[in-house]
Amino acid sequence: MGADAWTWSYEGYDPGAERLREALCTLGNGRFATRGAASETPAGPAHYPGTYAAGCYNRLTSTVAGRTVENEDLVNLPNWLPLRYRILPADTPDPGPWLSPDHPQLTGHRRTLDLRRGTLTLRSVYEDGAGRRLTVTERRLVHMAEPQLAAQRLTFTAEGWSGAVEVVAGLDGDVRNSGVDRYRELADTHLTGWYTGIEDDGTFWLHCRTRTSGIRIALAARTRTAPRPRAGHARLTPRRASRTLTVPLRPGATATVDKTVALYTSRDRGVTDPLAAALGTVRDAPAVPRLLASHHRGWDRLWQQARLDVPEEAGRILRLHVFHVLQALSPHTARLDAGVPARGLHGEAYRGHVFWDELFVLPFLNLHFPEVSRSLLNYRHRRLPAAREAAREAGLAGAMYPWQSGSDGREETQRLHLNPRSGRWLPDHSRLQHHVGSAVAYNVWQYWQASGDTKFLHTKGAEMLLEIARFWAAKSDWDPALGRYRIRGVVGPDEYHDGYPGADRPGLDDNAYTNVTAAWVLSRALDLCRTLPEARRQQLFERLALAPDERQRWDDIAHRLHVPYHHGLISQFAGYGQLAELDWAGYRERYGDIRRLDRILEAEGDTVNRYQASKQADVLMLGYLFSPAELSGVFGQLGYRLDDDIWRATVDHYLHRTSHGSTLSALVHAWVLARVRRADAWTYCEEALTGDVADVQGGTTAEGIHLGAMAGTLDFVQRGLTGLETRDRALWLDPAPLPQLSKFGVRIRYRRHRDIDLRIRADRVTIAVPDSEHAAVQVRLRGQPFTVAPGTVRRLGLPGG
Ligand code: BGC
Repeated sequence: MGADAWTWSYEGYDPGAERLREALCTLGNGRFATRGAASETPAGPAHYPGTYAAGCYNRLTSTVAGRTVENEDLVNLPNWLPLRYRILPADTPDPGPWLSPDHPQLTGHRRTLDLRRGTLTLRSVYEDGAGRRLTVTERRLVHMAEPQLAAQRLTFTAEGWSGAVEVVAGLDGDVRNSGVDRYRELADTHLTGWYTGIEDDGTFWLHCRTRTSGIRIALAARTRTAPRPRAGHARLTPRRASRTLTVPLRPGATATVDKTVALYTSRDRGVTDPLAAALGTVRDAPAVPRLLASHHRGWDRLWQQARLDVPEEAGRILRLHVFHVLQALSPHTARLDAGVPARGLHGEAYRGHVFWDELFVLPFLNLHFPEVSRSLLNYRHRRLPAAREAAREAGLAGAMYPWQSGSDGREETQRLHLNPRSGRWLPDHSRLQHHVGSAVAYNVWQYWQASGDTKFLHTKGAEMLLEIARFWAAKSDWDPALGRYRIRGVVGPDEYHDGYPGADRPGLDDNAYTNVTAAWVLSRALDLCRTLPEARRQQLFERLALAPDERQRWDDIAHRLHVPYHHGLISQFAGYGQLAELDWAGYRERYGDIRRLDRILEAEGDTVNRYQASKQADVLMLGYLFSPAELSGVFGQLGYRLDDDIWRATVDHYLHRTSHGSTLSALVHAWVLARVRRADAWTYCEEALTGDVADVQGGTTAEGIHLGAMAGTLDFVQRGLTGLETRDRALWLDPAPLPQLSKFGVRIRYRRHRDIDLRIRADRVTIAVPDSEHAAVQVRLRGQPFTVAPGTVRRLGLPGG
C-alpha cells in the first residue's frame, strides 16, 4: 500500500484481494457510486463491478428452506465501466488477445485512489513475449459537481511495436445482484425491459427498468479519441450497447480514449424521461480534462468543510474514511429521498438497507454538512406514516420504526438468515430491535443542538420525537410486583441475544440500553412539549391527538422504567446475570477468530443465548451516546445510582464478554475506554480504524464498507477525544486525548459559524473562529466558560490538566 498522505494505492494484481480493493476503491458522489472494479472484465469470481444509486430499490420473492420470502435490495444498476482493448500490430494480420489484469501478459498493475481529487487510476502493463509492450492507464471519476456524470480516460503507450489499439467501450445491462455469496439462493434479477440504441453522433445508450418498483434507468455514453479513430462501429444487443474504435498507436506516442457517461433514473427530480435526460447531459458534457477540473473543485469544497488534521497512519486512514462517507452521503444526497445505507453505496451486503447506523453517522455530518443530516432525517419523517402503521399493527400507539428500512419504510428485516457455517436457514428476530426508534429521536435532538435548526425541531422533528415517545410509552407495562415499568420482548444492540434459552417466544425483557434510551426520549419529548411556542404546541397536540394525561404517563414512565442490575453492575437485560459463562479461552483456542460466536455455537448445536457473550457493545452504548454527567442524570431520574465505580466495573464486565462481531463494537469500546482514560482504548481505536482497510471481520468489506464504523471513527476524533457536546447554546469541551493521538485538529460548523478550527494538544486547546457578523461562540472547557469572538483565536490551557 502506498504511503502518501492523500493517496491510497495497491501495487500488483491479486485476484484474491480484488473484491476487497474494489470496495475500498469505490468512487461515488452521494447520488450513485461504482465499485473500483477493472473495466476490462465483467463480474466473475474475482471481480464485481457494482453500481448503486441512493434509494433505488426493488423487491423480489424467493423460496428458501421451503418458505417464500420477500426481499428488497438496493439494485445493482447496469455496468458503465466496460472498456476492452487489444493490440493490432502493423506487422501481423492477427490481433493480439483481449487484455485484462487476469491475462498472463500482465507484468505490472497498480491501483491508486487520489483522495484529494476523487479519482481512481488503474495502471496495467502488458508484454507479449515478442518484445511488444503496452502500458494502459485508466483515470476514472464519478463527478462530485455534476452528479449524473462519470468518466474514464484510457491512455495507451506502445513500446516495441506500432499499429493500433482496438477498444470496445460498452454499457452492460446484463447484471444481477450477485455480490454476496450468502444470498445466492435468493432471487437476484432486478432489471428488465432492456433496450439499447445509438445516435447519429455515436452516443450509445441503454434503457431498462427495475422489475417491481418500476424505476426507469438510462445510461448514455460518448467516446472521444486522440488521435482520431481509424475505424469504428457500434454493436447493440437488447442488454448491451458498445462502440468499437480502432486508434492508431506509434511507439513513444500516446493514444487516449475518453468515455463520458450520464446516468439517470426516473427517481431523479424534474426528470420524466431518463433517457432524454442522459442523452442531453452527455451531449453537453465538457471534455474529460475540463470534467476533471470541475470534479476536483467539487472535492476541494468538501475537504474544506470536513478538514481533519491527524498525523501519520491514523490520519491517512481517517482521510480515507472521510472520502468514503462523503461518497455515500454528500450534499447531492440532500436533494434525494434516501437514508443511510449501512454498507455505503459500495456493495450489496445488508441489501443497501438502512439500520440504526445513522446514529454513528449523523453526529459527524451535523458538524460539517447539516443540510445532509436534515435530508436523512427527512427520509425518516417521510416514513413516519409507515412507522405509525407498524405500531398500530403491533397493537401499539406511536411510531415503530423498522429495524431495516428501504424504499417505503416498511420492515425489511429478513425472516430467515443463513448460517454459512452450518448451512442452516434460521429464524431472524433482529426486527425486535425497536431501539432504532431511539436512534432516530437522538439524531433529531443532536441535529437540532448542533445546527440550531429550531424550525425543523418544532415541525418534523417534533412529530417524530413525540410519536417515538408515544411508542415507548405504549410498549411500557407497569409491573406492580416490581413497582416499575418494564419493556418486554425486545432485542438490544447485541444481536446475539434474541431470546431466553428454551423460551417459546423471542425477545428479552428490560434491555438496559433500550429502557434508558426510552426514558431519555420520553424526557426530551416532554422538554419539547414545554418549550414549543404556544400556537405550534396547540397545533401539534391537536394533530397528534395528544392528551394531557398521556404526557403525565410519559413523565411517570421516564422516572420509573426498570433498569436491571446484577452483582452491582448494570445488566444487559433482566436475567442476564443468570446466564452461563462462556469458556472464552477455550473457544479462542479452538476456533481462532470467534467474532461470529453465534454462528460457531449454532453450528455446534448450542446457542449463544445461553451465555454472557455479546456480539457488540450494548450496555456500553450508553457511554457512547451520553456524557458521564448526562448518563448519571438519566439514571438519577430513574432512581438509580450510577457513579464512576459502577460504570467502570460495568465497562470491565462487558469488555471481557464481547466478541466484537460488528465493526461498531471496537468503535464504541474505543470511545468508552478513552472517556474513562483507560490505556487499552488505543487497541480498540486501532481495530476501529483498520476495520475496513484490513477487513477485520474477515471478508465482509468486499461486500461493502461499514459506513457507521467509518463515520464513527471520524466522530471519535471530533467528539470522542475532544469531549465536544453542543448543548445549552454552548460548545462544551472536555478533551481526553490518547497518548497515541494527542495532537490533532478538526474543523467544524456550529450553528451559524462555519469553519471553526479546534486544535488539541495534550495540555491545551486552540479555538479559531473565522470573522463573521455572528455572535461570539460560547465555550465551556471542562465546565469553565470562555467566549471566542469571530475573527479571533484563543489558546486555552486545560483546567485541571
Ligand atoms: C450490527 C448492527 C448494524 C448492522 C448494519 C450488524 O452486524 O450488529 O448493529 O446495524 O450490522 O451495519
